[in-house]
Amino acid sequence: MSDVRTVAVGGDAPYRIEIGPGLLADGARLAAHARGRHALLLTDSHVAPLYAAAVESALRDARPALRVAIHVMPAGESHKTLASFGEAIDALAALGATRDATIFALGGGVVGDLAGFAAACWMRGIDCVQLPTTLLSMVDSSVGGKTAVDIPQGKNLVGAFHPPRAVFADTAALRTLPARELRAGLAEVVKYGAIRDPLFFEWLEAERAALLAGDHRALAEAIARSCEHKAGIVERDPLERGERALLNLGHTFGHAIEAEQGYAGNDREALVHGEAVAVGMVLAARLSARLGMAGDDDTGRLRTLLQGYGLPTAVPAGLDPEALLARMRLDKKNLAGRLRLVLWRGLGHAEVVPDVDEARVLELLREA
Ligand code: GLY
Repeated sequence: MSDVRTVAVGGDAPYRIEIGPGLLADGARLAAHARGRHALLLTDSHVAPLYAAAVESALRDARPALRVAIHVMPAGESHKTLASFGEAIDALAALGATRDATIFALGGGVVGDLAGFAAACWMRGIDCVQLPTTLLSMVDSSVGGKTAVDIPQGKNLVGAFHPPRAVFADTAALRTLPARELRAGLAEVVKYGAIRDPLFFEWLEAERAALLAGDHRALAEAIARSCEHKAGIVERDPLERGERALLNLGHTFGHAIEAEQGYAGNDREALVHGEAVAVGMVLAARLSARLGMAGDDDTGRLRTLLQGYGLPTAVPAGLDPEALLARMRLDKKNLAGRLRLVLWRGLGHAEVVPDVDEARVLELLREA
């Protein structure tokens, strides 16, 4: 397969991200990462009808001795729960999975996070191969080993760091991705330009039409450049002791919005993760400008680009600012009860601000 690009992630548990069309059908490539005799293909009710049978037979053809079971969870962030986690664990038990078993996580961020967490916990840790099928999971959640489930009090509050054994981003899967999901993924792509790469940001301004039209080469380029940024960061800071927190630009605001909306992102009214992050990035940029850290011009440029990608940039109507702030206080980045946010000094220069004045955040939320 000549069209495959590779990004290496170094560190204590190195792995490769392969990006290209047709990877889900390449059983030999996928099965090469199954060390033992058991594989659980974990997917969701949206993705299963599209790809599960093809991936299962590709694995079986490449490795007839592999015992493959498929576990289908209901689709949507509202199912990234301890209950769904328990069902995945039951599926591993039913398979008789031993310590050398592999979970193949076929789907978007919800599947990847939940499958990764099940892999982190089963027999204290088995391999997980990420097969992301959404743009958002290809550029962010499948890379770096963050795994988790949500609880009613907040998003991703229960989880573990458990790096994947490999990541295969089959860009052909993006052809079946709903347009709203493609746009939501582009929010996370824009994030890399915003936090560390003004030239990439400019490229995203120039390639908007191609990316929105699903142009294969433009998307592969966007995924590879995003993964290169993410790989570099997680290699240097796998456990988010420092630099990795920058990847959360907009996420504290975004997670609060998602939690307040009850993780109902598949409803037309509620925001999906990438949309909430788009709103959050603009709020973070506006707050940075108010705190005198950045100028208004860069905030305007960020807002214009996100809007150009069809993304929301204001807090949805009806959300209570006090309730959003209360959610933000539960964010994992906070230390010693202080609000710790990722803000920026303008395009390409994000930084963690350890003790943000809550009154300024509330003022912004009331206006936004
Ligand atoms: N999604 C942010 C991170 O992986 O650190």
